Amino acid sequence: MTSTLDTIDNTARSIIEAAGKQKIFLFHGQMGAGKTTLIKALCSALGTDENISSPTFSIVNEYLIPKGKIYHFDFYRLKTQTEALDMGYEEYFYSGEYCFIEWPEKIADLLPNHYLDINIEILADNKREIHISSI
Ligand SMILES: Nc1ncnc2c1ncn2[C@@H]1O[C@H](COP(=O)(O)OP(=O)(O)OP(=O)(O)O)[C@@H](O)[C@H]1O
Ligand SMILES: [Mg+2]
Repeated sequence: MTSTLDTIDNTARSIIEAAGKQKIFLFHGQMGAGKTTLIKALCSALGTDENISSPTFSIVNEYLIPKGKIYHFDFYRLKTQTEALDMGYEEYFYSGEYCFIEWPEKIADLLPNHYLDINIEILADNKREIHISSI
């Protein structure tokens, strides 16, 4: 689907609907593609009004939603996958809560078997092509 900032809330709602029971979302796309921006829209569609920004000091941020929690990861600065093991990534991934993961490429060996894959591509005129597939 094609998305702009004007339509991102609708995009977010369709993604949540398409995901069904799948709560682990991987976000692929170059720097500035719009991963964090889409995560913000998804979080607000899920009912949090917390301030969403990429985790900086820690690797993961936690937001409360009416039905539980959202864990938002940004693995961009990860140097080795061991750092993810050390922060206890498994407790989050297998918690049953939503996990939104930026830069999953950095933890390629630690990914769960099933997830929703989201690819964001930059098009002309501030548009984005967003492609989702369930794996
Ligand atoms: N769907 C969209 N349509 C148009 N512009 C967008 C869209 N999503 C994001 N942008 C714009 O792209 C810019 C970068 O977005 P964002 O910070 O979300 O990227 P990112 O993929 O998280 O980058 P990084 O890899 O650095 O974390 C922002 O200025 C934002 O306004
Ligand atoms: Mg980001």
